[in-house]
Amino acid sequence: MNTLRVIRKLLTALLCLAAWTVTSVTAQTLPDKSADQTLGVITCASSLCHGSVAPWAGSNVNQNEYVVWSRLDKHARAYSVLLNEKSKRITAKLSLPQPANQSKICLDCHAHNPVNSASEHHVSDGVACEACHGASERWIKTHTAPDADHAQNIANGMYPSDQPVARAKLCLGCHFGNTDKYVSHRIMAAGHPRLSFEMETFTNLQPAHFTVDADYVKRKGAVDGVKIWATGQALAVATQMEVLMDPKRGHDGAFPELTLFDCHACHHPMTDARWKPHTSFGGNLGPGLVRLNDSSMLMLQLILRQAAPASADSFKQAVAQLNQAVAGQGDMAGAVAALKAQAQAAATTIGAKGLSNEQLRLMALSLVDDGIAGGYADYAGAEQATMALGSVVNTMNQLGQVKSVAALNAGLANLRAGLKNDEAYKVPEFAARLSAFRTLVATPLSAGSTNR
Ligand code: HEC
Ligand code: HEC
Ligand code: HEC
Ligand code: HEC
Repeated sequence: MNTLRVIRKLLTALLCLAAWTVTSVTAQTLPDKSADQTLGVITCASSLCHGSVAPWAGSNVNQNEYVVWSRLDKHARAYSVLLNEKSKRITAKLSLPQPANQSKICLDCHAHNPVNSASEHHVSDGVACEACHGASERWIKTHTAPDADHAQNIANGMYPSDQPVARAKLCLGCHFGNTDKYVSHRIMAAGHPRLSFEMETFTNLQPAHFTVDADYVKRKGAVDGVKIWATGQALAVATQMEVLMDPKRGHDGAFPELTLFDCHACHHPMTDARWKPHTSFGGNLGPGLVRLNDSSMLMLQLILRQAAPASADSFKQAVAQLNQAVAGQGDMAGAVAALKAQAQAAATTIGAKGLSNEQLRLMALSLVDDGIAGGYADYAGAEQATMALGSVVNTMNQLGQVKSVAALNAGLANLRAGLKNDEAYKVPEFAARLSAFRTLVATPLSAGSTNR
């Protein structure tokens, strides 16, 4: 073989490897698509298993997970939502042939609606254990064995909900949608609430049925709130790109799927002439264009500036190119594929990187400063930035890097107050709230903060 051919072979192998890493980031099969059989919540609920009323002392896991879930977690009531008046109105407006609680289009997110299930499984149990932890056919017996470990459980079909990328794909599947299940603009126009999601915030909002203690860390590794946030943003961008290019989901008649764009680009009175140049990603979108919802792109750009400065510029360019393509200049499919690849690569980079305490603070500071500079031109961006600040500041607090928790909580509450009414959102008003917040993260707690 001559040298050229060897080099070519090597390059092909490298490219294949690169392609493999990119696809493998999201290759995990979601619980509802698993070929394994779902056995039903009744299998987990016994008082000797996960149905104890109080946590067990001396057990690895709390054992009261079922009680926490069934009494406190909204997921346990996700199915019953489909019986309420709002759902009836949605179904009637959409002229669905069946009521919401019998419609696959609703059940796919408001319940665990798997492709393979035992007769003991009922969709009426809502978003139950196996919706997140995977169909239990192969792991139910072995996961309680004295020598069972987490890797073995996963090999037996348990879903790796502890892994940030896998968890992002899981939660986003229902809280953003994917190419299988999606709250389209038609469903929203029929009355479905707008979806907004940030993985770290929502992980904390979900009534905790697990405790991250020394034993948890030993079995599953440390939990880093900022990584959970950052990975969630990277996967949100990748998923948005997937849906945008999906032949089935991405279009509706003459138009693209409108929920992928900024709601308020269209939904505001004509007398409210609010157009301003959008320059966050370089370039400038002229007036009268429908903008993509770029809230997660704004977050990911900011994350990369701290976590992987070398790729921040190419990410920014990829978004700028996509915006151009949406405006009719350039190849849409190419721009979407490029941005998706960048977002997936970012998820891998973020997973491998640690951030110093100082980088964490600088991230909080740029969340604030980007907004003061007018970077959150749309409500969705301000909403994501506020949830992001909550997550970053929460992590800083866990690391003992916060001067006054009370002051920060008051600052966050003031930001949230600015988001109460999406239709009344005004950039300068929100920027003023951010300016007030700025002093809380403007200076390091102590000189020479240590690396984590
Ligand atoms: C892609 C997943 C997805 C699909 C598909 C979906 N939903 Fe939802 N729905 C959600 C999520 C997530 C929420 C909660 C939003 C939040 O609080 O952040 C929700 C909230 C709701 C609510 C408001 C909750 C309440 O307490 O009143 C109603 C009503 C509802 N959905 C009905 C429906 C109906 C009817 C359908 C089918 C036509 C449907 N949904 C399809 C994910 C979905
Ligand atoms: C909406 C998703 C979701 C649902 C529904 C859910 N869980 Fe979890 N569960 C999680 C997440 C996220 C974690 C934390 C990450 C991890 O350890 O996998 C977790 C962790 C756990 C743990 C691990 C605790 C540890 O210390 O390792 C157990 C046990 C558990 N869940 C049991 C259950 C049971 C039983 C049910 C049903 C009654 C249930 N879960 C329903 C998402 C869910
Ligand atoms: C199978 C679909 C599905 C999956 C997977 C899922 N959720 Fe949900 N989630 C829902 C639905 C539907 C609701 C709304 C229920 C309601 O309104 O009663 C909801 C509600 C919530 C709420 C309550 C929100 C509120 O407004 O109070 C939180 C928090 C939440 N989910 C977090 C998560 C997290 C974190 C994950 C991933 C570990 C996750 N969910 C995975 C479908 C899902
Ligand atoms: C490209 C422009 C565009 C975008 C972007 C858009 N919409 Fe719409 N929306 C429309 C149009 C057009 C209608 C139909 C108005 C009518 O029937 O009078 C509509 C109708 C609606 C309605 C029903 C209002 C009514 O009067 O009954 C709701 C609710 C809605 N959209 C929510 C949303 C949400 C939430 C988003 C973002 C996730 C969004 N829209 C994004 C153009 C848009």
